[in-house]
Amino acid sequence: MSSLQPVRGTRDLIGEDQRRYRHVTETARHVSGLYGFEEWQTPIFEDTGVFSRTLGETSDVVTKEMYTFTDRGGDSVTLRPEGTAAVCRALVSNGLTQSLPLKVFYAGPMFRYERPQKGRYRQFHQIGIELIGPAEPLADAEVIACGWQILTALGIADSVTLEINTLGDAESRAAYRAALVEYFTRFAADLSADSKQRLEKNPLRILDSKDEGDRKIVADAPTIAAHLTPLAAGFYDSVRNSLTALGIPFVENPRIVRGLDYYNHTAFEFVTTQLGAQGTVMGGGRYDGLVKQMGGPETPAVGWAAGIERLAMLIAEPKTDAAPIAVIPAGDDAEAAAFGIVQRLRAGGIRADIGYKGNLRRRMERANKAGARAAIILGSEEAARGVAQLKDLVSGTQSEVSLDALLEAVRALPSGSPA
Ligand code: HAM
Repeated sequence: MSSLQPVRGTRDLIGEDQRRYRHVTETARHVSGLYGFEEWQTPIFEDTGVFSRTLGETSDVVTKEMYTFTDRGGDSVTLRPEGTAAVCRALVSNGLTQSLPLKVFYAGPMFRYERPQKGRYRQFHQIGIELIGPAEPLADAEVIACGWQILTALGIADSVTLEINTLGDAESRAAYRAALVEYFTRFAADLSADSKQRLEKNPLRILDSKDEGDRKIVADAPTIAAHLTPLAAGFYDSVRNSLTALGIPFVENPRIVRGLDYYNHTAFEFVTTQLGAQGTVMGGGRYDGLVKQMGGPETPAVGWAAGIERLAMLIAEPKTDAAPIAVIPAGDDAEAAAFGIVQRLRAGGIRADIGYKGNLRRRMERANKAGARAAIILGSEEAARGVAQLKDLVSGTQSEVSLDALLEAVRALPSGSPA
């Protein structure tokens, strides 16, 4: 049998990769907690309709990227390509639509059949927050502020730019849509096949096209600004004013439409130039119609999600765990006592380990290689006397310590890791 490889677009997280992943997730969990977001977990697959009816029938995600299959009972299910529709489904199925506002944090795997490249995978992972209930523009600013604080806590706020836009309300969008249809119809012959279809079904999607030819035409397309109702323009003003008041820097980018169809009013992305083509690290916006589409009552909401892999590539290497204490029995009859010591250290909250094999020298070598902070060496004669040698592997000093006092002596070691 040929050797098994991970499926294209999937990765194993081992060593530093997993430490980076964990640091991003734990930082986001902690900071979003400061804003009152509570973690939810929803299943990683849903009825296909949860996504196909809500993300947009002309969106790339629905038309090309979903992992959809018929299960053994004949039901069509889909591995979740994103978390927002799933959270809204959970809100409705759990009868929580009367318990608003709700602040939800989530973290976990998402699946999209995309062409894999740096920063783009078929199984990737998102952290995300959803603030469900408030219709006020202040909620949009709060959600963005939480994202900004997470990026700051990760030490990468300087590497990203916040770009914002408005997609207006339904009336603004209808007027804008008409303007886009008029504009793009003039270039219909030159549009890509995908965009020709979008022209009929959802001309806004053309603005998001990756096709080179389309992009040239899009460059001169009208923006929504001239078509905003006073209400939508006022909403956008408030969001911008709140961000300014909070000291969060942003630029306006009228081309942001987002890849999913459920957005209205605010749309935003945190982008970086450091990751090549996959520069969007966090994206989101307001989606006032989604809960209703999911069968719930009219419910305003706003949120974002960020690609953990992309954030993990930008952060500095996270610190490793505290250096371990190596317990080394010298001679076979000290083995059992050494196991007793290592267990007592662990029960006392100390990271400790014992090698399984080898003579004293081999085990010392291994302790050094593992970056141990100190070694506890226990000979059988010493065990009988109730003492052990504690060797500080940073300073090189060694002293005899009574077994009863070992835990305290280890705790008293000056912090520092061996060179
Ligand atoms: P999205 O823009 O589709 O939005 O994805 C959010 C982020 O997930 C992207 O900015 C990117 O960092 C990451 N991402 C997306 N696809 C991939 C991939 N194939 N490989 C690696 N990373 C990827 C949403 O998913 C919305 N649910 C966001 C939202 C929440 N809107 C409101 N609330």
